[in-house]
Amino acid sequence: MKKKLSIILVTLISIVTYAQNTAQYLDNKISLNERVEDALNRMTLEEKVALCHAQSRFSAPGVPRLGISELWMLDGPFGVRQESVWDDWISARQTNDSCIAFPALTCLAATWNPQLASNYGKALGEEFNYRNKNIALGPGINICRTPLNGRNFEYMGEDPYLTSVMCVPYIQGVQKSGVAACVKHYALNNQETNRDFVNVNVSQRALHEIYLPAFKAAVYDGKVWSIMGSYNKYEGQHCCENDYLLNKILKEQWGFDGVVISDWGGTYNTYEAAENGLDLEMGTFANDVKPFTKGIYGKFYLSDPYLKALRDGKVTMEKLNDKVRRLLLLTFRTAMNRNKPFGSFNTPEHLETARQIGEEGIVLLKNENALLPLNLEHLKNIAVIGDNATRTMSDGGGSSGLKVHQEITPLEGLQNKLGGKVNIFYAKGYSEKDDQANKLMIEALEVAKKSDIILFFGGLNKFYHQECEGADRDSYGLPFGQDKLIAELLKVNKNIVFLNISGSAVAMPWANQVPSILQAWYLGSETGNALANILTGDVNPSGKLPISFPYKIEDCGAHSFDKMCYPGDSLNVFYKEDILVGYRWYDTKNIPVQFCFGHGLSYTTFTFGKPIINSNEISSNDTLNISVPIRNNGGREGSEVVQLYIRDLKSTVLRPNKELKSFTKVLLKSGEEKLVSFKIVKEDLQFFDEKSMQFKVEKGAFEASIGSSSIDIRQKIKFNYK
Ligand code: BGC
Repeated sequence: MKKKLSIILVTLISIVTYAQNTAQYLDNKISLNERVEDALNRMTLEEKVALCHAQSRFSAPGVPRLGISELWMLDGPFGVRQESVWDDWISARQTNDSCIAFPALTCLAATWNPQLASNYGKALGEEFNYRNKNIALGPGINICRTPLNGRNFEYMGEDPYLTSVMCVPYIQGVQKSGVAACVKHYALNNQETNRDFVNVNVSQRALHEIYLPAFKAAVYDGKVWSIMGSYNKYEGQHCCENDYLLNKILKEQWGFDGVVISDWGGTYNTYEAAENGLDLEMGTFANDVKPFTKGIYGKFYLSDPYLKALRDGKVTMEKLNDKVRRLLLLTFRTAMNRNKPFGSFNTPEHLETARQIGEEGIVLLKNENALLPLNLEHLKNIAVIGDNATRTMSDGGGSSGLKVHQEITPLEGLQNKLGGKVNIFYAKGYSEKDDQANKLMIEALEVAKKSDIILFFGGLNKFYHQECEGADRDSYGLPFGQDKLIAELLKVNKNIVFLNISGSAVAMPWANQVPSILQAWYLGSETGNALANILTGDVNPSGKLPISFPYKIEDCGAHSFDKMCYPGDSLNVFYKEDILVGYRWYDTKNIPVQFCFGHGLSYTTFTFGKPIINSNEISSNDTLNISVPIRNNGGREGSEVVQLYIRDLKSTVLRPNKELKSFTKVLLKSGEEKLVSFKIVKEDLQFFDEKSMQFKVEKGAFEASIGSSSIDIRQKIKFNYK
């Protein structure tokens, strides 16, 4: 009895002092770190371990006894996913969780507009906050190594610099709402084939120059609060429990103070998870864990087996305390953040943000015969052809799929905008079912014959083996007989505008014959409205490709070697193209592409004047200033993305012909000129030296190329690094 009373007393005192401390914290008298230490010291071993693993499909339990909140999370990255049942992925069938879908991240990257990335993050954070979620599972920032990766649409393209610049404001925007962004998938998750076990063999140089920089920027500049490990292996160890990636690089070198979350089911071993840097185990396929069975969360690797290993002295308390500190800090930054604003959901402002990003991300790849913008004074009949004109895209593709409040399809967007002014005839044209191909083609040809222009909405979709989590694409070509259909359509009407809806490059063997081509990505809720505004010219296109479009898949670096380079066997994949990923490969190897990285046209044109440079030499502490006058010499207002690429002209190691190091998007009225300025510093000239395991610059001549794309270079400047 006496013992019981004293336990009650100690607990009461503990709760009272904890409450007092909380009150002081609320008055900002106690720092976050003191608060973390205070809470940590009050926790039992069991409570600490409980913090390190899931309590449901998308939540972790907090410490109920101390009033420390649960952590709730959801995908991400394009909107707040629907609620699922406690133990499983399946829908909870709620009626209040239909969200706004923002454009997929390839589209965001294609805007080359960091302000829009900030707006995206802010709107998304507000939506997560309204739904009481503490962690948004995104953005995805893996580099596009091959157009065949089924999840390319979730990422920001093939360039580490562009991805870094675009992910930072997104993260900061989300976190303004007291919602943690969770960058994923760390690291080297560049294919879905064998994603659960393939061991990625990559040089240290490619790792540090290509695959890690965006994660580093997320940590250094974005100050991201959480990061998700990837399913694949690196150096034979799963990335969710990888000592080198998590402990050595992320936590020790980069000083990351946030939480490492496993990908769902990406944990395999209690010892490695405990010691190698994982903090929170979410989802598991371990130990026969089946949804809806009792005690499943006790079976997680960082649950009962972890408690046992701690008690047996097999793993260290030090690492446990490190995890708990991080998890507490995350909780205080998010769920228990007293400065957190109110959230908002499905607002007109968020919809507007989604539409603007879509409009700025659409890329005009080709525009011959001035087919675009649509000449509404002369057009009477418009044929809209293609399955993707009527298909909603936000709900597929795996974990990023969304239950949307609305999604305006391309056809609806055009009907809303042009209805009553022109006749719109729709034909599906193609389908997944071969037996319908002939009938659909005949219908499409009928419609094409009686129309002045054809708007063909093709590309991929979000099904398995198209663009979807869990599998890569089967082939680089367009599916469902689209090439054949285009060839037939060209015979009856050459005025074709092809709108490619996809997150990846596709083969376009007919590109020479089709006068206008646009890259239209997955644009989310406002798809049809954004597309209609671009097609009619109400918005002038200004997107630029964040990926290259090779002519054929064999041209791509990852496909230029044997099968071990892609997709590998079930055990290993070898990144033999090394640092030459994306345009770095095509450009350095002189391989022509259909559309190059950075390419994108406008309804107006721009000229680049002679650059002004402050010096022809730079040393380690200097900054080189380059300014270029850009003029809009066309007939209407528009934006140009001025891109700066660097080349080391003489080097002891292989350097790419061009590497993007800076860009600016500039809005110019017709006839207007502005000076666009760039700064070049030592870091822009360096490569990763495998001998010293550090970034290094070699003395000598460098070249800065300034242009409208990675190929369309308008000005070049040579300078020396001394
Ligand atoms: C995906 C993650 C996602 C998680 C939770 C995994 O299958 O790889 O990107 O966040 O599921 O849905």
